[in-house]
Amino acid sequence: MKKILVIHGPNLNLLGTREPGVYGTATLASINGGLLKSAAKAGAKVDFFQSNHEGEIVSRIGAAPGSYDGILINPAAYTHTSVAIRDAVAAVRLPVVEVHLSNIYAREAFRHQSLISPVAAGQISGFGTHSYELGLAALLKLVSAPAASSSKTLSSKSVKRPAAAKRKTRR
Ligand code: DQA
Repeated sequence: MKKILVIHGPNLNLLGTREPGVYGTATLASINGGLLKSAAKAGAKVDFFQSNHEGEIVSRIGAAPGSYDGILINPAAYTHTSVAIRDAVAAVRLPVVEVHLSNIYAREAFRHQSLISPVAAGQISGFGTHSYELGLAALLKLVSAPAASSSKTLSSKSVKRPAAAKRKTRR
């Protein structure tokens, strides 16, 4: 049975009452409940962790290998600031899928950059609570067929770059 760790970053414990116009009215408990059901249907197990503290999130990511097959994470505000969380994701040899309730690219400029995306298998943003469901489905697919569809095979390294860009980096 595949095991997934779901990590929720800062202020996501306040979902339900936190800026409902942006994040909706679903609570964290109801999001987790939905994920639990979806995982069970797929024959997988999910554990949940929410923290408002960067170091705690770093530690949970670092401790995941051996206990989990993949990580679904909404790093929340740390998405845009945390080199430590990015390095933890890069350090563990586990597929990590990044999710956001809101479309971070349609919001303030400081939310347009994710430090996590370049080291994640992929990112889903803007579908409200459905982002988590889509992220879980993608992650379960990844951990079930790692050789065929891992982030490594679809990384930017395998994406053909224009000749001009190649010339520039060779200098
Ligand atoms: C968020 C987007 C972040 O920019 C923000 O800081 C959050 C939530 C989202 O799920 O839309 O806390 O990650």
